[in-house]
Amino acid sequence: MDAVAAPDDRPEPLARARVAWLPGDGVGPEVAAEAEAVLRAVADAGGWAIDLVPGLIGGASIDRFGLPLTDDTLALAQGAHAVFKGPVGGPRWDHLRGAERCEAGLLRLRKELGVFANLRPTAVTPALAASSPLRPEVLGQGVDLLMVRELTGGVYFAAPKGRDGDRAVDTMAYTRAEIERLAHVGFRAARLRRRRVTSVDKANVLESSRLWRDVVGEVAGQYPDVHLEHQLVDSCAMLLVTRPSQFDVIITENLFGDILSDEAGVLAGSLGVLPSASLGETGRPGLYEPVHGAAPDIAGQGSANPLASILSVALMLRYSLGRPREALAVEAAVRDVLQDGVRTADIAASGQPPVGTGAMGRAVRERLARAL
Ligand code: IPM
Ligand code: MG
Repeated sequence: MDAVAAPDDRPEPLARARVAWLPGDGVGPEVAAEAEAVLRAVADAGGWAIDLVPGLIGGASIDRFGLPLTDDTLALAQGAHAVFKGPVGGPRWDHLRGAERCEAGLLRLRKELGVFANLRPTAVTPALAASSPLRPEVLGQGVDLLMVRELTGGVYFAAPKGRDGDRAVDTMAYTRAEIERLAHVGFRAARLRRRRVTSVDKANVLESSRLWRDVVGEVAGQYPDVHLEHQLVDSCAMLLVTRPSQFDVIITENLFGDILSDEAGVLAGSLGVLPSASLGETGRPGLYEPVHGAAPDIAGQGSANPLASILSVALMLRYSLGRPREALAVEAAVRDVLQDGVRTADIAASGQPPVGTGAMGRAVRERLARAL
């Protein structure tokens, strides 16, 4: 499985890193600016060069070029070491259909980059426990889970797909090869953690899930040190809010992962703190995105939480730029700032005055400067 990038890969540090920078729509440019400042601070302190090459995606690209992702932007992404992408979409572009939609640009970017494994870590630290919607006794000893979502197959992409008058069809299809490579990423990730994998499917109903379950079971044979359990998706959705601390690594197909990762993410109180990394083959660019949406209702107000974007940059440092020590430093700075009680509106306790996007970013960089 050496051709596949996974969380246990250790890429060489790059002396000059080229990052395609696509801030997206809504609050995207605001949160991306804070993430950019963190990345530049890390590179400056380490004495290495970073070329951030800006590009448009989603509604911003539609407004300028009439398309959510142009071939030039795609080429920019493919030629970079890593890609940062902010959220896309908004009511102004909601009337568009099919390939003209903002989301279509994002899906094409993921598919063309071949980033089939989407890693979404969620941790409910003591500092964030108060903003969790769950009671402390349900959170138990704490929640620390990694969702590994298949990202370039399944019902998002498989044919046939389309609308014919009053009938519409989407197809959920998977091949053995697609399931195998995703499963390997999950098991390898588990070896760096608590060595438990929960594979989520709907094998009591879906043929593609029955193949999923068989193949994951076979791959598990190569990881005797990792404990595997299978869980049906409806039951997993329930356990995430009744016994969330029992999960370590969850591996699942594209649509189930989309839904469950929002559910898992909000255990920490807000999607505003949830980063993601999407990986494909070794040596190809990884894609780093905050999980939250464009939040057009608060765009331009400087109140959005930049932590998901800042933590996505930490994942980029670790998985694409060969800077694991710096990744840890960024994550520690975020933890410290939350421990100090600095809160944007989405995670503020009632009655507590929240800080804005820029102040949160500055607080993280101040902490970080002490560690670099
Ligand atoms: C996500 C988003 C996207 C998805 C949308 C915007 C297409 O919800 O990254 O989870 O469904 O993958
Ligand atoms: Mg989603």
